[in-house]
Amino acid sequence: MRLRDLQDLGQVVTRKTDIVHAIEHFPPLPRGLKGRTTELTTLARTLEAGARRLALVGGGGSGKSMLAAALGHRVAAKFGRRLHWFRIGAWDAWTLFEMLAIRFGTPRARDGRLDNLRAFLVGEGPRLVVLDNHEDDAATARVLDELADTPTTFVITARRCLLGGVLVYPVTAPLVTLGRSAFPRVASLTRVLRWNALALDIADGLIGAKALTLPELTRFLGDRGVGRVRVVAHEDDVPEVAALVDWSWQHLGAASRRVLGVLGHVEGDHVDVRSLAHLARVRDIEAALAPLETFRLVQQPLRGRFTLHAVVRHAIRQRTTPEPDRWFSYYLRLLEREPGRLALEQTHLFAAMDHCNRANDLDGMLRIERLLAAQGL
Ligand SMILES: Nc1ncnc2c1ncn2[C@@H]1O[C@H](COP(=O)(O)OP(=O)(O)OP(=O)(O)O)[C@@H](O)[C@H]1O
Ligand SMILES: [Mg+2]
Repeated sequence: MRLRDLQDLGQVVTRKTDIVHAIEHFPPLPRGLKGRTTELTTLARTLEAGARRLALVGGGGSGKSMLAAALGHRVAAKFGRRLHWFRIGAWDAWTLFEMLAIRFGTPRARDGRLDNLRAFLVGEGPRLVVLDNHEDDAATARVLDELADTPTTFVITARRCLLGGVLVYPVTAPLVTLGRSAFPRVASLTRVLRWNALALDIADGLIGAKALTLPELTRFLGDRGVGRVRVVAHEDDVPEVAALVDWSWQHLGAASRRVLGVLGHVEGDHVDVRSLAHLARVRDIEAALAPLETFRLVQQPLRGRFTLHAVVRHAIRQRTTPEPDRWFSYYLRLLEREPGRLALEQTHLFAAMDHCNRANDLDGMLRIERLLAAQGL
């Protein structure tokens, strides 16, 4: 990628490592972000006023990650465009430090891992680090605490956050508190879809693509009993989204379904187009992805890399089967061949480590260690 292309993306960068970080590791400015003017202004002011630890807390699919991405771009200049995104999930603190070390290119050896990270963060000026999808309070507390003396501002997204010393900003569905609809094209479905941003976005995509008419979709949702009271299994079991995924599934070709199958089960954060084509055994990946993008079933957290929202993932998992051995050996071979991609594919490597541990695969563990060692990590 040439510098001009980078600047076109609105990411002015100065150092080679920063080019990699800023472009490849932070989501692009979300297109189609709706109903967040007030939140963005408030949050940007909060960070500009010096808040260093901010948690966006709200239910699944309320729009925390999208908001965090938009916020990053809003305040990018304040941080010299040093924006970093880590999807942390439930990893323990040492794994999180390891993730940071691999990303920033600081030594990974446990001895000195933290001191090197601190030195790197202190030396480079202010940074904004988004810790997306926080789940483990103790792990995140440790990271925030250990890195407290560096000029790093942390934004956390979390469904729940039991952390003192962190400013909690509640995130609700766009415009729900005003009782207004953020999705004009499907405004009449706002109440039946309970303001759920993910469901409304998919509905908006279906109607926008003229896949069916609004009355047809309204009837379908009614027939599916979407408004009926029922116990859900957990937060990712959202009947409105399940119904919309159902309708879509029935109207998708086999290749698009296989792509969803891979994204529904793969354990790493996001998958690049080339790997997706290989793993889903799809020849024309662009054609397979096109309806998934039109129906807003896939997310593209980084350019050319795809994932599913956890709620869509849950709906897809019900109807597809994973091939973990094949996927993990694919990623191991890929990284052995192209070790330069380690920073980008690191969550696939961590997933492979977990898989080797679960399967008692010593050979696999040794290959991973050799891979990291060859990179001086
Ligand atoms: N403000 C918004 N405008 C348009 N669409 C939105 C908005 N907020 C959320 N969405 C839709 O909902 C989806 C889920 O949003 P997002 O990933 O930000 O949710 P989340 O709160 O981070 O969920 P989780 O807790 O599962 O991580 C988006 O991919 C998009 O389809
Ligand atoms: Mg999220």
